[in-house]
Amino acid sequence: MSKTQPAAYSPVHIFLHWVIAALIVFQLVFGESIKDLGRALRDTGAPDTLTTVMGNAHIWVGVTVLVLTLLRLLIRARFGVPAPVPASRIQELAARVVHGLLYLLMIVVPITGLLAWYGGIREAGDLHELAKPLFIILILLHVAGALYHHFALKDRTMKRMITSRI
Ligand code: HEM
Ligand code: HEM
Repeated sequence: MSKTQPAAYSPVHIFLHWVIAALIVFQLVFGESIKDLGRALRDTGAPDTLTTVMGNAHIWVGVTVLVLTLLRLLIRARFGVPAPVPASRIQELAARVVHGLLYLLMIVVPITGLLAWYGGIREAGDLHELAKPLFIILILLHVAGALYHHFALKDRTMKRMITSRI
């Protein structure tokens, strides 16, 4: 964390938040594609073009999520993030826990995927699949929290993840 806490998220942090979010939704929606590729490679050794493209997309989009997340955490550590919008202590704690778990999954999920695909480690694949419902639950909680701030509390939480202007 930088010595002086910034008043807003930086444009880069905001940009990375939305790009990574879109890539993760893509991964969760099309996660089956890499299983189809694995099956086709095992069964016929010659997957069709769509299966190959979508299976490889899963790998490259996943690696992109990992790289961008590490970059985002570096930027976060170097420049800091604004203080939480004032809320009850329990709400602040809930947001912090959900954000922490999301960051954890954004790193652990691609790594377990790589270990399963390239290392053939079954347990890593099991963990990777187990993360799917966990990821979905956390994202739903996170989005519900953001919408609650925006529509019920009518505070700046949502606005500050859209623009750096104060
Ligand atoms: C944020 C990144 C990622 C997300 C959200 C994600 C998500 C998913 C999902 C939803 C599935 C299907 C699980 C199911 O049907 O139960 C899956 C399967 C799989 N993914 Fe990923 N994935 C990511 C990154 C990666 C990466 C980088 C690789 C590396 C090659 C990878 C390799 C795999 C493999 C091998 C499977 C099949 C697992 C098995 O059959 O045991 N994933 N992933
Ligand atoms: C789909 C995947 C998503 C992931 C993985 C994700 C992850 C995160 C993380 C880790 C943070 C903490 C930022 C930090 O302090 O460094 C954050 C902040 C935020 N996210 Fe998301 N997010 C996602 C989707 C969304 C969506 C769809 C919305 C809006 C409906 C949203 C709204 C926000 C807002 C408003 C903040 C700022 C919270 C604050 O300043 O206290 N996010 N997100």
